Amino acid sequence: MAAGKGTRLKSQLPKVLHEVGGKPLLEHVVRAAVHVVPANDVYVIIGHEAERVRAVTAHTGVNFVLQAEQRGTGHALMVASEALEGYDHVIVLSGDAPLITAETIERLRDFHLEERAAMTLLSADLENPMGYGRVLRKNPRSAEVQAIVEEKSATAAQKKIREINSGFYVFAVKELYENIGKLSTANAHGEYYLTDMAGVLNKSLPKGRQRVVAWKTANASEVLGGNTRAELAEIDEKMRMVKCRQLMAEGVTVFYPATCVIDADVEIAPDTVIEPHVQLLGKTRIGTGCRVRSYSVILNSEIGDGVLVRPGCVMEDARISAGAVLGPYSHLRPGSEIGEGAHVGNFVETKKIKLGKGSKANHLTYLGDSEIGAGVNIGAGTITCNYDGVNKHTTVIEDGVFIGSDSTLVAPVRVGKGAYVGAASCITADVPADALAVGRARQIVKDGWARVKRAGQGKK
Ligand code: UD1
Ligand code: CA
Repeated sequence: MAAGKGTRLKSQLPKVLHEVGGKPLLEHVVRAAVHVVPANDVYVIIGHEAERVRAVTAHTGVNFVLQAEQRGTGHALMVASEALEGYDHVIVLSGDAPLITAETIERLRDFHLEERAAMTLLSADLENPMGYGRVLRKNPRSAEVQAIVEEKSATAAQKKIREINSGFYVFAVKELYENIGKLSTANAHGEYYLTDMAGVLNKSLPKGRQRVVAWKTANASEVLGGNTRAELAEIDEKMRMVKCRQLMAEGVTVFYPATCVIDADVEIAPDTVIEPHVQLLGKTRIGTGCRVRSYSVILNSEIGDGVLVRPGCVMEDARISAGAVLGPYSHLRPGSEIGEGAHVGNFVETKKIKLGKGSKANHLTYLGDSEIGAGVNIGAGTITCNYDGVNKHTTVIEDGVFIGSDSTLVAPVRVGKGAYVGAASCITADVPADALAVGRARQIVKDGWARVKRAGQGKK
């Protein structure tokens, strides 16, 4: 079920597209679902901003059912009746509860089948059950459930019940659809509540036949829903901590893990150290023996072994070879390929470049659309002028070149192997191998000029 608006988030974005752990809520739930049944047996009920939700989720290969008007969780299942024809049982998941695991769904399903129940709900004991539906058992030791009562309709005594309805269920399809028409909208929200099926089935099914039962999970945090921004933050924190613990178990050092933001798909080899306040996002992969210092934000990048990332580096779609040293404050934009043992220093921006083995660009430099060979030294303040206002052009700097500080290289241009470029040169034409190119005005010196100027102003 993923059709709701998520009013409590006060957002333009539909609830199930809000992210925790770097992914939309719904994607986490779908991931768990496709572990249990094949994607083509999964139906996502969409409604509010349906096309947006569909676009984000389509890559998972699941089916969609449109609930054009969102008249409650019971209504969501009414709309799905055609899609579910031909199935004996349906597992119903809430698209806003992303911590659910495939194992728990499977245990819920197995319990449902063993009990031969018409409806099985997943329950949990929560410290703070506020806002959740409460489970009214027939008696404390029985698996059988009398009814589920929503927070808004609960009596003071019922509100004290800590066993909550998680929003995950298994239904026998036949019993569900024979009786779903009996749901009513006579409640606080004027909606069809799926939770009311517990009471409905108890009334409708002949005694002694299939029943309504609950299976309680011991892992209560799995059922948390992200209905508010505060709940989203709490879930995100839990997920991040799970990821950090997993990395630590695999031999990665993470200092102050609570300050690090590491996405679920990030891979890090053992003996790498992640310092506080680091963000590792998307499909980033980091080798062994690296150190990523504080305040670096790394997205979809590949980092080889033994790389040192000094503080404050920003990287996206970059590839860093073994032994490279980056930062502090380097900005590696998409397509940056940094060679083995190369250095990229402070306030250096790179985009779509290859920097060869052992080459260095240590200070205050922009390198874009460039192929730079091995053993090259790029002086402080070097700029590749890759853009002429219309098109981008390439700068080629061959092996062993020395670019003096404050040079501008106006692309397209090539500096041949082993050549030197004098400091502060503006290079507009190719430089042959082993040459020296100097492209700047010759210095002039006027003896005594300053003294004469001061005298003219009445100063000594
Ligand atoms: C629901 C349960 C509550 C339970 C809680 C657990 C009902 C009436 N109440 O409350 O007992 O404790 O989940 O998290 O079911 N949705 C649709 N179509 C709709 C309405 C909702 O697809 O017309 C989807 C939402 O997008 C969401 C899910 O169903 O993913 C649950 O809806 P939500 O409004 O969050 O229900 P809760 O108030 O959390
Ligand atoms: Ca919810």
